[in-house]
Amino acid sequence: MGGKRWSTIALACAMVACSGKPEPAPPPAPPVVEAATAWSDAWILREGQRFLADTPYRRVALEHSLTNHQNLYSRQRLASYGRGTGGWDLLPVWNPRSRPVTAELVTELARGEMPAVAADQAPLWDGVEPTTMAGWIALGRRVFFEYPMRAEVYMEYGLTRPEIADAVGVERTSVGAVPGLVVFRNTDGDTRVGITCAICHSTVRDGTLVVGAARRRFDYGRLRLAYFAETGAPVDPELARRMATWGPGRADVTEDNDEDPVTIPDLYGVREQRWLTQAGTIRHDSPLALAIRQETQLTDSNHQLVRPPRALAWALAVYVYSLAPPARAVTRSPVVEHGATVFAARCATCHANAAFGGRPIAASTIGTNPSLATGRGRGTGSYRVPTLLGVRDGAPYLHDGSVSSLAELVSPDRLDPGYRAGRLGPGPIPGHRAGTDLDRSDRDALLAFLETL
Ligand code: HEC
Ligand code: HEC
Repeated sequence: MGGKRWSTIALACAMVACSGKPEPAPPPAPPVVEAATAWSDAWILREGQRFLADTPYRRVALEHSLTNHQNLYSRQRLASYGRGTGGWDLLPVWNPRSRPVTAELVTELARGEMPAVAADQAPLWDGVEPTTMAGWIALGRRVFFEYPMRAEVYMEYGLTRPEIADAVGVERTSVGAVPGLVVFRNTDGDTRVGITCAICHSTVRDGTLVVGAARRRFDYGRLRLAYFAETGAPVDPELARRMATWGPGRADVTEDNDEDPVTIPDLYGVREQRWLTQAGTIRHDSPLALAIRQETQLTDSNHQLVRPPRALAWALAVYVYSLAPPARAVTRSPVVEHGATVFAARCATCHANAAFGGRPIAASTIGTNPSLATGRGRGTGSYRVPTLLGVRDGAPYLHDGSVSSLAELVSPDRLDPGYRAGRLGPGPIPGHRAGTDLDRSDRDALLAFLETL
């Protein structure tokens, strides 16, 4: 883990002022909200109406939501989004026809047949805008599982080879369905296999679907490499080398060529978080920030040829807010109570909100690998504090998945220059030192408390 390489990147950034600066030029004033009602259901529904109807309002919300206007993520959106008479607002609206991949569809694909999607099949959305939170959530769930982000030749390939699919975390439920994959009629009329949000943001535990949990077994790099190896399709050797380093649950989703793969996060407690993405790329003072993220993500991933109906981007945001870890019984033993006091004293300054997440912390302060925070793709100079809901099932930890367990996170051993047990290779795992100085009993109590979140 070259400390030297990071400082070179940081220096290069400083010289061209690309994105290393924690605070860019001040963004425009935020959309006006009455503080007392912010984040109530009624307020969210009202904001939704404005998202759907008011283009200048969407544009102001976009500008305000981008933490650092200089990174590539922001620049692309500032150039294309919410411009009314130009950019992505002019793209055709695409209301797709898709079929979730069931056991029967897998069988057809394995026979080398592409399942049919009837031209007269009803599209995903019937065109009726819900009026209640429950209605938006139900629609959002369908978008999450059924709206294709793009055709995926790798998945088409993986689905016909069960041993590869299994090895790379293309998971199946107890009835053989493959959550996150659809067969759909593409924008050019071809029928294809596509991925949806659920391929990364849902998982199967003991045969049961858990929505919102990161697909930590999903090894996208390995799947693509298997495809290239078997088909002989050309691949840039440098890219192949990088894909091999991602490992399960991580992918490089940034728009740059930096080496900054990130873990797929759980989508829990998002409604409490005021900054989104691990580098805090998006300021989340309004639900429009998330709706715009989703509208632009679906547009960008579908090669900027189409945009989703805006009601579907909104539904997706409201659905994401509804996600929470599966309920389970929790015992509040004296040890757990003690752990709660340790947490309050040592962790809650940063893990401060109701979902135990919080505001961005400068990468130099937290001390973890800074390349994502300072990268040109989505960098802001900081890492936002992630939520800790369901954290016991959330390994590996930190934005780069460098820490294998909660015990390792709070163990001083990992800071040792001679540490060899790190999952990303030998050497110390620096940064996020909070808790590594606790004595044995406080540490055990803290770990017991974290298990209950
Ligand atoms: C190929 C895997 C993949 C797919 C597909 C995917 N995501 Fe993600 N998602 C990620 C990764 C990786 C991150 C972390 C990005 C970062 O921190 O910069 C992320 C981050 C997010 C976040 C921010 C969470 C936070 O804690 O700040 C939200 C919200 C989200 N995704 C929603 C969605 C939705 C909705 C879809 C479907 C339109 C989707 N994602 C599709 C991998 C994926
Ligand atoms: C100085 C602020 C700060 C303090 C204090 C702090 N954290 Fe964090 N925490 C962060 C930041 C920032 C991250 C994300 C860092 C990264 O990904 O590089 C994080 C990440 C985490 C993660 C990883 C979560 C995930 O989903 O990957 C866990 C677990 C965690 N902290 C637990 C704790 C515990 C337990 C304590 C107290 C002993 C604590 N933190 C104290 C700022 C803090």
